[in-house]
Amino acid sequence: MDNCDNMSLKMNPFAKNISEPSHPFIKWAGGKSRLISQIKNFIPTEFNNYFEPFVGSGALFFYIVRSFKMKRNCYAHLSDINAELINVYKIIKDNLTDLIKELQYNEIEYHKNPRRFYYKLREETFRFNHIQQAARFITLNKTCYNGLYRVNKKGLFNVPIGNYTNPKICDIENLTRVNKIINLTKVNFETYDYQHIITKIKENDFIYFDPPYHPLNETSKFTNYTSHGFDYNQQKRLANFFYELDKRKCKILLSNSDTPFVRDLYSSFSQNIISLSALRSINSNTEKRKNHSELIIKNF
Ligand SMILES: C[S@@+](CC[C@H](N)C(=O)[O-])C[C@H]1O[C@@H](n2cnc3c(N)ncnc32)[C@H](O)[C@@H]1O
Repeated sequence: MDNCDNMSLKMNPFAKNISEPSHPFIKWAGGKSRLISQIKNFIPTEFNNYFEPFVGSGALFFYIVRSFKMKRNCYAHLSDINAELINVYKIIKDNLTDLIKELQYNEIEYHKNPRRFYYKLREETFRFNHIQQAARFITLNKTCYNGLYRVNKKGLFNVPIGNYTNPKICDIENLTRVNKIINLTKVNFETYDYQHIITKIKENDFIYFDPPYHPLNETSKFTNYTSHGFDYNQQKRLANFFYELDKRKCKILLSNSDTPFVRDLYSSFSQNIISLSALRSINSNTEKRKNHSELIIKNF
């Protein structure tokens, strides 16, 4: 199933049915939309299946599809440890009409009394079915502070309400485009730790790792996507995995912060460590949202 034909295909034949390009349907800390114009230069010209095991809002995946960089019959394996997030992708794929109804309902209720509705929805930790859970996730993402996803030690979402006058909770046009893209492209969605992709990886597959970043300093630390965090040992574990996949002759691209620790972890690839200029977006203090450098590390 994972094999794809090696015919050089410049265009995804399905994509011509999609008139407007889709883009991420959520705002995500560390989302790569703003860096795509730089990262796109490092996408290999030829590869088989695509893996994005820290998918988040999937900015690079959407770019790869809309720029026709995937070959026919190849799979995109999109995964993340966040089960609620992966549920949203699956619901957009299979239950779009019902999801839109739930989002429209949430949008009406939110506008009646944003604060009351937001905190009621946030405290509702268990929703009746997967469609309502997906609608809750999107609604909180569109209305919470800075689109952050942060959980406490118990795994409960704890971001306060954001300061929006008229947030668009139900973006039917983009959700419909995303639905088409993921139904016309061969995409698998999985909830698991990134190392699970090892069972599927083959030579010439392309993997984009965009893990929670190693913090520049203690105060800039934001690794709370999950209740487990992503500490030094996790960064070392990821680097070991990178070296292991390199031996399998895969094409690997990895993003991380520009720190001596990260540079040291990937020192064997020092010829292929490139620094990009980026604007940090999740810092609450606008003064601190200045340009900084982050790294692209690749093995090809
Ligand atoms: C920097 S974000 C990815 C952003 C993404 N590239 C985008 O454009 O939105 C890091 C992601 O890693 C996920 N994550 C954290 N630990 C993980 C693990 N051990 N395995 C898989 N995913 C993990 C988080 O849930 C989060 O979505």
